[in-house]
Amino acid sequence: MRLFGLLVATFVLGAAVAASLEPVIIVPGLSASVLETRYHKKTVPHVFCDKNVDNWKRIWVRATEMAPEIIDCFLQTMGPVYDGSSNTYSNCEGVQMQPHDFGGLEGIYSLDPDLREKTEVYGPLIDYFVKRGYKAGETLYGAPYDWRVTAPDVNAKNGMYAALQTLVEQAVNRTGQPAHLIGHSLGSPFVHMFLATYTTQAWRDRYVGSFISLAGPFGGSTMATEYTLCGMDWRVPGLSKSHIRDLMRNMGSAAWMMPFGPGADYVILSTPQRNYSLEDLPQLFLDAGAPSTAAMVRHVQTYLDQASVIPPGVETHLFYSRNTTTPLTYYEPAGVHCSGDQAGPEVVASRPGDGTVVDWSLLGYAYWKTQPQPLTSYEVASDHVGVISDPMVLKLIGEIVGL
Ligand SMILES: *[C@@H]1O[C@H](CO)[C@@H](O)[C@H](O)[C@H]1NC(C)=O
Ligand SMILES: *[C@@H]1O[C@H](CO)[C@@H](O)[C@H](O)[C@H]1NC(C)=O
Ligand SMILES: *[C@@H]1O[C@H](CO)[C@@H](O)[C@H](O)[C@H]1NC(C)=O
Repeated sequence: MRLFGLLVATFVLGAAVAASLEPVIIVPGLSASVLETRYHKKTVPHVFCDKNVDNWKRIWVRATEMAPEIIDCFLQTMGPVYDGSSNTYSNCEGVQMQPHDFGGLEGIYSLDPDLREKTEVYGPLIDYFVKRGYKAGETLYGAPYDWRVTAPDVNAKNGMYAALQTLVEQAVNRTGQPAHLIGHSLGSPFVHMFLATYTTQAWRDRYVGSFISLAGPFGGSTMATEYTLCGMDWRVPGLSKSHIRDLMRNMGSAAWMMPFGPGADYVILSTPQRNYSLEDLPQLFLDAGAPSTAAMVRHVQTYLDQASVIPPGVETHLFYSRNTTTPLTYYEPAGVHCSGDQAGPEVVASRPGDGTVVDWSLLGYAYWKTQPQPLTSYEVASDHVGVISDPMVLKLIGEIVGL
């Protein structure tokens, strides 16, 4: 009898705790959403590439797709095509692409579910909530997106904001509590633009508890310019720097991550022929023989000119770091025609930051402080990726969401 009473008491207490959890939605960074594809292609680079895939299959990331030669099939499927004259992004002909498990956590926990531990992305953040009673699809949600084709000036049209808006409403309608939106890296400008340009104040007041930014590059990062110009080593065997460069030159997210705003008042890229500052970035890609990338950068910059300063309009928490020396200016000895596969550039100027993004970029825009909702920043020691698993950061997030 006594035992029965205890069990009931425990059960009631458990239910009360579960009911009071405020829902959390995690919006990941660049390349940090699992992507899946299906396709019917007319032409393929090798006879052994599949022409037809009827059922959705994971493409990002799957180690077997990156084997020598097979990687050409992968690159064809993954490559977005940007058309500068219409400012539109599309897939290679016949290809469909979508984020894996939108709303659930499988699309953001690790990049390759076959190598769960080795390719963990938001695992530590997710585990923190799960240990405290959060459940996938009930109180804890992932909002993965096709990070190749996201851009601030096209997301309202391509359905990405609509998908996030519906997810937030579902979380709030289900729990009866406003949702906390956690962005990491590119996920933070994504959430900011969603709130600032796509939602009304009435909607934000009703549905959003807070916006939490972890290492958000609101004023971009010099690295995005360098990688889009010259490529980047992703340390995936078979995937060369120039492969990455060719992908990035068609990725709206690459333009979105380039330096922007009043803080970007320095030379971003230096060559023996010319120094390129913020207003010269379109010219940089023209000089490099990439006119559609130049158009992409121009479209994104024009949009950000208007939109980046608009405050989020919700309680906002910005986590940033000044503990790592972070590049401001790169010098490319080979000039704009850096082949992509030679040694990396030289850093000629730097600033405190998180190793990827400098401090002022992580802190957003001065005008945001005019919003009536609280805006708080937290200086932490961890770097751009370490912030996800920093116990100090997790503890502070817990306090923000009412744990
Ligand atoms: C959430 O509830 C509101 C109010 O009842 C309703 O207008 C909205 O459509 C609901 N959203 C979803 C995604 O169910
Ligand atoms: C670029 O700027 C640096 C530093 O101000 C200067 O020394 C260099 O001469 C400039 N290069 C060109 C090509 O103008
Ligand atoms: C990070 O920077 C702060 C402020 O400059 C300093 O007090 C702290 O010791 C640094 N932490 C680490 C781990 O380097």
